[in-house]
Amino acid sequence: MSQSLTLRRPDDWHLHLRDGAMLRAVLPETTRHFSRALIMPNLVPPVVTAADARAYRDRILDARPEGAKFTPLMTLYLTENTDPEDVAAAHAARLITAVKLYPAGATTNSASGVRDFDAVRGVLERMAGIGLPLCVHGEVTDPTIDIFDREAVFIDRVLDPIRRATPGLRVVMEHITTSQGVDYVMSQDRDLAATITTHHLVINRNHILAGGIRPHYYCLPVAKREEHRLALRAAATGGDPRFFLGTDSAPHPDPLKESACGCAGCFTAPTTLPIIAHVFEDENALERLEDFTSLRGAAFYGLRPNEERITLSKGVPIASPAHIQTGDGTVTVFDPGFPLEWHVT
Ligand code: NCD
Ligand code: ZN
Repeated sequence: MSQSLTLRRPDDWHLHLRDGAMLRAVLPETTRHFSRALIMPNLVPPVVTAADARAYRDRILDARPEGAKFTPLMTLYLTENTDPEDVAAAHAARLITAVKLYPAGATTNSASGVRDFDAVRGVLERMAGIGLPLCVHGEVTDPTIDIFDREAVFIDRVLDPIRRATPGLRVVMEHITTSQGVDYVMSQDRDLAATITTHHLVINRNHILAGGIRPHYYCLPVAKREEHRLALRAAATGGDPRFFLGTDSAPHPDPLKESACGCAGCFTAPTTLPIIAHVFEDENALERLEDFTSLRGAAFYGLRPNEERITLSKGVPIASPAHIQTGDGTVTVFDPGFPLEWHVT
């Protein structure tokens, strides 16, 4: 029996588009299926000021394929020198949708991130006052903390203290990877939400390390044990409106990943929707797919859901595409380890 689902067009609440030739190659992979995406600011140099965000937004708009109606929702990269007034003006001008906190050194292109969280207190208080959400890369960078524990330790040492010190600050824990992340969101009020990526619903740490190192499964935060993957699947497919899709699709040219020191990031944009439909079907939760991909995130950010619809149909299984070509070289597409049965029609 053929099956099909009609959904409001999805939004991606955590996306890396890069710039230049890479931007032009990867943007159509998102605009094909998504109406809006929250654009991560970790360019080199990062998108720090309102002027940077305006210029980057215009480059994205210029790179849109013919006819695409996609809207990039911009973020600013929080630094210890960020000016609260610049942030507030960008918010008032509807230029930005959130501010992104990277602990310095936590991930790709995060060298300009925050070392001293007290130094950004003024910005966070201003954001709480105007209702501008903070998106958080939630990992400590303390080298004595095991990389698999960095998210859980961040919640206790950094995130919870920041939230207690800044009442009213709306926070999104980006790309959560642990049951501790899920539990923390569930224990808190509606000011806290979390995005969950495509790949963390599919892989655990064995996929990266068992039987050989697989650099295309390496991302940050790194995938954890199976019990954590199951907690993420339960959160994504469950009824709590604070968990929504942020793919964290993060393209890197293959030579930079297939290297003695490969960089972090999984490129999932081309096949995210077929993969997520597969996951939700496995969990007997197809009726919640639209909530996760198209409704909850918009509601958290105070935006109307998209009016346009897309249809997903279950059909002949096809192999996942292996890679795309870009002006910066080949980029491998995330392999979910199963054929794709759901197709966007
Ligand atoms: C991201 C990137 O490549 O920019 N990498 C990743 O592994 N997710 C950065 C990030 O979101 O941490
Ligand atoms: Zn990311």
